[in-house]
Amino acid sequence: MTATHLTVPVALGDRSYEILIGTGLLDRAGEHIAKATRARRAIIVSDAAVAPLYLERLRASLGKAGIEASDCIVPAGETSKEFQSFGRLLDDILKQRPDRGALLIALGGGVVGDLTGFAAAVLLRGLDFVQIPTSLLAQVDSSVGGKTGINSPYGKNLIGAFHQPRLVLADVELLDTLSARELRAGYAEVVKYGLIDDAEFFAWLEKNGPALLAGDRALRAEAVAVSCRAKARIVAADEREGGVRALLNLGHTFGHALEAETGYGSALLHGEAVAIGMVMAFEMSASMGLCPTADVERLRAHYAATDLPHDARRIGQRRFDSAMLIGHMMHDKKTRDGKLTFILARGIGKSFIAKDVAVETVRHALDRALAA
Ligand SMILES: NC(=O)c1ccc[n+]([C@@H]2O[C@H](COP(=O)([O-])OP(=O)(O)OC[C@H]3O[C@@H](n4cnc5c(N)ncnc54)[C@H](O)[C@@H]3O)[C@@H](O)[C@H]2O)c1
Ligand SMILES: [Zn+2]
Repeated sequence: MTATHLTVPVALGDRSYEILIGTGLLDRAGEHIAKATRARRAIIVSDAAVAPLYLERLRASLGKAGIEASDCIVPAGETSKEFQSFGRLLDDILKQRPDRGALLIALGGGVVGDLTGFAAAVLLRGLDFVQIPTSLLAQVDSSVGGKTGINSPYGKNLIGAFHQPRLVLADVELLDTLSARELRAGYAEVVKYGLIDDAEFFAWLEKNGPALLAGDRALRAEAVAVSCRAKARIVAADEREGGVRALLNLGHTFGHALEAETGYGSALLHGEAVAIGMVMAFEMSASMGLCPTADVERLRAHYAATDLPHDARRIGQRRFDSAMLIGHMMHDKKTRDGKLTFILARGIGKSFIAKDVAVETVRHALDRALAA
């Protein structure tokens, strides 16, 4: 089997690691993992939807490299990030009597990645872990950067740790089995990197986005690589989100409010909420006189060409009002002293962090976006 891949380094001193992106990586995972770690024993964490598709191939590849592997399978979906599910996973792993040299491998989407990474952060005061992200969202976003964690009834991702993986293997062939809807949700995060600071990449997506979504693996690998490079650069500059890392939240303040209101379920996927949130951020920027309306139109045209959701009014039967969404924003952990921090834009590829945005400005933008 031929394997071709691109390598994106993440430079974080003694926590540095590589992201390998391409095809054929799952079947050579053992080889790559043996090179990046000293592990002889691995515990694979996956979910009930992904494991039947890819677990045996991973296990076979680890076996060939002399790494003995066992597994823990969690239910698919966000509920696996609840505290009780996390506790059960820790027990399942501990039952297998891992020692400090054991390696955890996350084989799945962002849920499995966040959960496994956090388990690795806390078990035996820190185990090594490797990410094998299987959703587009996980390949371009959640598997890179070292944020790990679980949810609380008080909010998403409120319990967690920074814990960097030793290696990330993003095999774009695995995206072939992902649903079209999940693929599009992940694509929204790809578009985000163009909007933040890479107008050239946005133009590339305008040209190649539809073929990428239709299944072109070379284009997928290229987009994942550009996205990971962008995230790696931002994370290397600001590992713990004291500054520029906040740019990655473009579209997320609006998006999180919509997700909170729809209950983090299948009514609205995270990437869909972010897609809508990015349009809102651009529209708010335009209405504040910061961003040319032509750029908002260009963004909308790309959404139309790639079938991304853009309209906050069309989420099932729900009706939203600005007061309830602002309520969620004020509770978001990213607000300080009750003031709203937004990522706004002076145009495509020209996003910036705006602190202390007046609630009135936000209300006005929301009222416009939600007007029937
Ligand atoms: N740590 C971070 O920096 C970070 C960043 C962004 C998002 N996240 C987290 O990531 C999670 C969302 O990730 P997600 O969108 O990948 O969700 P997910 O892990 O729930 O995956 C989505 C669905 O697709 C299925 N799936 C995944 N890969 C598949 C494949 N190759 N073939 C078939 N089915 C597949 C999963 O079983 C699941 O049902 C959220 O919990 C979010 O908080 C974390
Ligand atoms: Zn996101």
